[in-house]
Amino acid sequence: MNIIRVANAEEGGKKAFELIKEGLANGANVFGLATGSTPETLYKEMTASDLDFSNCVSVNLDEYVGLAGDNDQSYRYFMNQHLFNQKPFKATYVPNGKAEDLAAECAHYEEIIAANPIDIQILGIGENAHIGFNEPGTPFDAKTSVVELTESTINANKRNFEKVEDVPTTAISMGIGSIMQGKKIILLAFGTAKAEAIANTVNGPVTTDVPASILQNHPDVTIIVDEAAASQL
Ligand code: F6R
Repeated sequence: MNIIRVANAEEGGKKAFELIKEGLANGANVFGLATGSTPETLYKEMTASDLDFSNCVSVNLDEYVGLAGDNDQSYRYFMNQHLFNQKPFKATYVPNGKAEDLAAECAHYEEIIAANPIDIQILGIGENAHIGFNEPGTPFDAKTSVVELTESTINANKRNFEKVEDVPTTAISMGIGSIMQGKKIILLAFGTAKAEAIANTVNGPVTTDVPASILQNHPDVTIIVDEAAASQL
């Protein structure tokens, strides 16, 4: 694992942007993307840049079950607001949280991933070391599926909702097996709340109790951390 330490989220966004720019120049055209507060500085860099993504495809990690794309709490809405409205892609995929048949939607999403092998996968990390919404205990070979969010994740995400009861308790998430197929993985983490998860991910045993620890087995992982997130390394 290649660890890059930065001063803060702004600098982290710039570093990740440099890697995306380099990847794009070298032919990468399928980007696995994440939502949440962590990648916001990266998306700011991307939208402010003159890079052209109009021949590129994006495949997002996850979506809350029950939220439509025009709901301002949905991840589709987040991506439109933070990136796609300003920086058009050829195609952008986010799981459909309103699908009537969720199992079929998961199978369909796996087909999308298979048809668009991810060149660069952007990841954030949960305080419990989840990646995507793959919570501790998720098998490492899991495919896209409907997952139950843990109390820790619901609490961490309630800041974006009026009240905790409004946070959906289930999501569709790309599986760890699918994430691991990305050719290059860039994980970003900022703030002390992520310090333990980062330490366990980098230095702990590879265990499903720490979902991100599987990244130790991937050949091309870069972890961009600020001082606070690196404080237990
Ligand atoms: C989001 C996702 C999650 C987040 C993680 C961290 O698409 O898959 O794994 O990356 O929960 O969230 P933030 O960045 O809000 O701390």
